[in-house]
Amino acid sequence: MTAQIIDGNAVADKLRLEIAAEAAAMVAQGLPKPGLATVLVGENPASQVYVRMKRKNCEEVGFDSFGHYLPENATQEEVETLVRGLNADPKVNGILVQLPLPAHLNEERVLSAISIEKDVDGFHPINIGRLAQKGRESLFVPCTPDGCIYLVEQTGFNLKGANAVVLGRSNIVGMPVALLLVKRDATVTICHSRSKDLPAICREADVLIAAVGRAEMVRGDWIKPGAVVIDVGINQVDDPTAKRGHRLVGDVCFNEAKEVAGWITPVPGGVGPMTRAMLLRNTLRAAKIQANR
Ligand code: GUN
Repeated sequence: MTAQIIDGNAVADKLRLEIAAEAAAMVAQGLPKPGLATVLVGENPASQVYVRMKRKNCEEVGFDSFGHYLPENATQEEVETLVRGLNADPKVNGILVQLPLPAHLNEERVLSAISIEKDVDGFHPINIGRLAQKGRESLFVPCTPDGCIYLVEQTGFNLKGANAVVLGRSNIVGMPVALLLVKRDATVTICHSRSKDLPAICREADVLIAAVGRAEMVRGDWIKPGAVVIDVGINQVDDPTAKRGHRLVGDVCFNEAKEVAGWITPVPGGVGPMTRAMLLRNTLRAAKIQANR
């Protein structure tokens, strides 16, 4: 069996077109453009790339993009003061503080300083807390987890009662995606570095979400035939045949997995573009909520 490829670029392009049309309609009604502020502290090269792409996508759909850059040695007070200023700025509808922050900063305090109405990343403790509670709705859902679920649902797969296995328990992906799967009535297993016999657990998965950050860890024989495989990993590996001497691979060995899975996301071009599309969607929603107040 050869899996069907889930084209994250195509799905994200379609979403972006819809978002651009809605943003244009807001402007036509005399409302301000939606605006996203990004905050990048330090010079982590991957974070620089991610923020640049998020800002570029904002401009492509007609949003304002406000980039804020603080040095690696910025103090807790400086970061929180910047966030409080953005909370008060009416042109800013959404605030994204790129993670990870430098180690000397208290991430929880920074994320807690973001107004929950502008928390388009969904990482404020109140938004995450609501995600973890039955009968509660968070105002915004974290973008990568939301993008993963969107891609699964694109395939027509019904999550209700399905066995879902999440590899990884990070605050950014593993834990919130597991919570979203529970909200959709999947039976969820969360695996991590201490889990025993990962291959056996994964072989039970109707849906497998890999978010561990280890290049090609998931092999073809870990996958249940016909499963939906969502690969969140973006790992750089040496490749002397590549122009730059390296290439990007996921947490799943794509060439092996595609022979067994029913559906699979590629890396790049799977989850990555969806994270940014979900950020735009959240920012548009934030702008609408704020315009109606
Ligand atoms: N770092 C990696 N992914 C993300 C994300 O979705 N949002 C933020 N703020 N930081 C990240």
